[in-house]
Order: sequence, then C-alpha cells, then structure tokens
Amino acid sequence: MAEVIQSKLVWAVYLLHLLLLIFIHGSTSDSISSEGFCAVHSGSDCGLPSPYTKILIKGGTVVNAHHKEVADVYIENGVILSVRPNIRIPDENIKIIDATRKYVMPGGIDPHTHLDMEFMGTATIDDFFTGHAAALAGGTTMHIDFVIPINGNLTAGFEAYKHKASKAAMDYGFHVAITKWDEDVSKDMEVMVRDHGINSFKFFMAYKGALMVNDDLLLEGLKKCKSLGALPMVHAENGDAVVEGQNRMIDLGITGPEGHALSRPPVLEAEATARAIRLAAFVNTPLYVVHVMSIDAMEEIAKAKKAGQRVVGEPVVSGLVLDDSWLWHPDFTTASKYVMSPPIRELGHGQALQAALSTGTLQLVGTDHCTFNSTQKAFGLDDFRKIPNGVNGLEERMHVLWDAMVETGKINIMDYVRITSTECARIFNIYPKKGAILEGSDADIIILNPNASFEVSATSHHSRSDTNVYEGRTGKGKVEVTISRGRVVWENDVLNVMPGSGKYIKMPPFSYLFDGIDKSDAAYLSSLRAPVKRANAAS
Ligand code: URP
Ligand code: ZN
Ligand code: ZN
Repeated sequence: MAEVIQSKLVWAVYLLHLLLLIFIHGSTSDSISSEGFCAVHSGSDCGLPSPYTKILIKGGTVVNAHHKEVADVYIENGVILSVRPNIRIPDENIKIIDATRKYVMPGGIDPHTHLDMEFMGTATIDDFFTGHAAALAGGTTMHIDFVIPINGNLTAGFEAYKHKASKAAMDYGFHVAITKWDEDVSKDMEVMVRDHGINSFKFFMAYKGALMVNDDLLLEGLKKCKSLGALPMVHAENGDAVVEGQNRMIDLGITGPEGHALSRPPVLEAEATARAIRLAAFVNTPLYVVHVMSIDAMEEIAKAKKAGQRVVGEPVVSGLVLDDSWLWHPDFTTASKYVMSPPIRELGHGQALQAALSTGTLQLVGTDHCTFNSTQKAFGLDDFRKIPNGVNGLEERMHVLWDAMVETGKINIMDYVRITSTECARIFNIYPKKGAILEGSDADIIILNPNASFEVSATSHHSRSDTNVYEGRTGKGKVEVTISRGRVVWENDVLNVMPGSGKYIKMPPFSYLFDGIDKSDAAYLSSLRAPVKRANAAS
C-alpha cells in the first residue's frame, strides 16, 4: 500500500513539474520554443523533467579529488545520501543507472562565463537557458558568471543579472565586477557580501574607456576585498599599452583579426599580472588571475607562489589547446571567431600552461564562455578593434580537457576532478556542497565513459552560436549522463532541461585562502620596529 502511495506521489510531482514547465515555456523567452532547440537536439520527451527523485548509480568508479573507489551512489531529492559498494534499496520507484567501467564524478564547475552580457556594442548570444543547456550536455552542472554593474552601480547590475538568470536550468553563482570607485560602490560591496552571497569582485585592467580600472581604483578595491574576505580577481592586461598597440597596427595597415594578437602581446599580459600580484602582496590579500593565456603571465604567478604568495591562476580551455595561427586564417568568419582577450597565443604557450596546471602552478580551468555569432563578429570586418571579444567553451570544457590531459597521461583522473570542479568549489567556499561526491553533497554528477568518443560541431552543439572554436575536434571520453540536483538532464544524447529550475548559490566570504592572513598582518606590524621614539620629535 505504502508503495502505491509513493508511486502516486512520484507521478503527482512529475505532473506538477510538467505543468510548471508548460507555464515557464510560455512565460520566459520565445527563444526556447522558437529555436526548435529541443526538437533538434533531443528525443521525443524533450524538455520534460525526469519523474525520478531517487537514483541509484551502480558499479562505477566514483572519483573525488582526494580518492577514487568502485562504489554505488544513492541520491534522493537532489542530495547524495550514500556512497558505498553494494547499495540495495527495495523500492521500485528508483531510477537505476549502470556505470560499470565508467567514471562517476562531480559535475564540472566553470568559474568564468559571460552569459547574456552586454559588451562591445552587442550582447553575448548565449543566455542563462541556452548556456545552461550547453553546459549540462557537456557535463558542467554549475558556473559562476560576472555581474557587470550598470553605470558603475553594483545593486542595479546585480538586479539585472538576477532577472537574466530567472531562466536558469542549472545552479549558478555570481562574481561582481567593479568598474568605478566611490563611497556608494564601497558600501555596495559590503551589501553584496553580506546580503547577496557574493565573495569575489573582478577588476578589468584592460578595455580602456569601458570596463578598465586604474591602479588607484585597484588598490582601493584590493583593500576593500581583503576587509570583506572577498577574493579580488583581475583581467590582467595593460589597457593603456593595448590601445597603443592597436594604433600601431592600424598605422601599419593591419586591420584584420591577426591585428588583435599583434596589438596585445604577452608582455602586456605579464606586466599587468606582475603589477596586480605586487599590489596584492603590498595589501597582503589573496589574488585570482583570470584567463592566464601566456607563459609570461604564468611565470609571474609561479614566481609569486614560490615566494609564498596566495595567487590563484586560472587558464581557460581555449588557451590550453588552441594557438593563434587561426587568427591568420584567410576567411574572416573563421579567423574572427578566435578573437578573445588576452589573445590565444602562439603554439607552445598552451602546452606550457597545461604543464603548469599539472604541477599545481595553475589551479583550475575555466572557459570564459563569451559567445558571439558570426554576424556579431562581422562588426569588425574592417577593423579588428570592433570584433566582439570572446569564444565558446561551456559545452566543450570537460571533454576537451579529458582528451588533452587525462587521455595523454598528463594528469590523473583525481586531478581532473580537482581542476574541473573541486578546486573551484573550495576557492569560492561552497565545498563540499559542490565539487564532491560525498554524503550530503548536492547531486551534481556526471558519468563519463572513457571508451566512448566525442565530436564537436556547431551543427550539433547546444549553444546558440553558429560557430564553434573547437569545430571538428574529436577525442576520447564522453559524458554520457549528467545529473543536476538529482535530476537526470542528459542521457542517451537527450537533453531534459527545465528553464527556471536552476538555483542561485550563495557563496560565503573568507574561504581557505584567507586563513592566517590576520597572523601574517600581525607579524608584519610587529616587524616594523616603528614608529621610533625620538627625543627631538615635534610632539
Ligand atoms: O575576450 C574575452 N575574454 N571576453 C570576455 C570578457 C573578458 O575579458 O573576460
Ligand atoms: Zn577578461
Ligand atoms: Zn571573461
């Protein structure tokens, strides 16, 4: 009898979801239905939520950053209840997934994306629905996007992004960019941390005349971040010198996408990285450097870390596996899709960044997913300075990284989990709710088959873009199942995503990166041997 009631309950929840889905489909963006997105990429039950609230994953190798073992994983109501061998649950309303000879891993967490961002006179083509669909199909179950303030106002920016994210299909968090400085911004940073679950702020050292900040602002921001236990992040390029480099290219008659790479060489990335690192050392605060693209910048991070400084370096997939030769491609549409900042570098940089990742000099991998279609990229047909900067990667990150680094033996599987998920959860203080397959963790899980293969193409990807910088790339290791908060959202190449189902994840301040900062501050103060008391002092 109890089983019958339970079964009816499951179906009642399922029908409720269905009604909700129909309501949301009708009330969010037209794009969801008008693109035929589900019809193209999914099976007949496209978009319907899975009726199961209980899932048992049998016989896979469960991989965490610290350990791997063959075990079963039992999930109920979006949470992992048990991880151990031979779990038996006498209940017929359980979805059982056989993961024998496959890896059961925490879903990917992408620390760096730009969904629905207004930038360079246009807006990124993937929003919080299509971006999430792409992410889930590629095994990423959470990301952290950047709130861009409106006229410098953090609260207005945050509210705008909350609205953009109302169609979220997976969990997400926010960093907040700081683009101007005054008392209101300083106070708003406190509000963001205290009331809105923000624990990181980003400073753009490039994009002069738009997002760029000067050293004066950066210094104020670093001090404020430290006082709040929030992590300062930098886009490290010397924005003044970039403008000089761009003018130089235009004067030489170089107006195509190759001019983008030539105008902002590695030295400008290294200079800004070194400057930000030194200012962070001066303030004694941790620092996070986003999209490390060159050996030159990576070496600045390595040097600082060796000296004991807390600097996190984030490479992105494009920088790890692509090279700048594409920017010289004779076809503008092809060349322009690789335009991002800092630029994708010459052959050799990617391999060096991979090596730095494998030794821990660089710590985690993002995408900087910031996608523009070929029409948008064509804004810069006659002038590379007008090509919207950004590439895709949310759907490809997990596959490309597995193939490039695990398949080649550069890192082991536990390190793969660390750099794609766990490290991000730790840095942004949401571990072990996220980034782990442990009892009590959120059921954000992927099942990867190391013997299956993947192929990337703009004709089959889930992004709204008509191009893909990984076009034609094939490799081993395929995410066959994605579970988001205890729901199977990707299985048998069928996507079951629900707009509005994603949750905002608040991230508390004072992550492990801040441990002991007070002690080193105290040590510094006691080392000053000052002020010196002098008999002839004025007072
Ligand atoms: O080219 C890029 N990286 N576009 C996104 C904005 C940024 O700099 O992160
Ligand atoms: Zn950037
Ligand atoms: Zn970015």
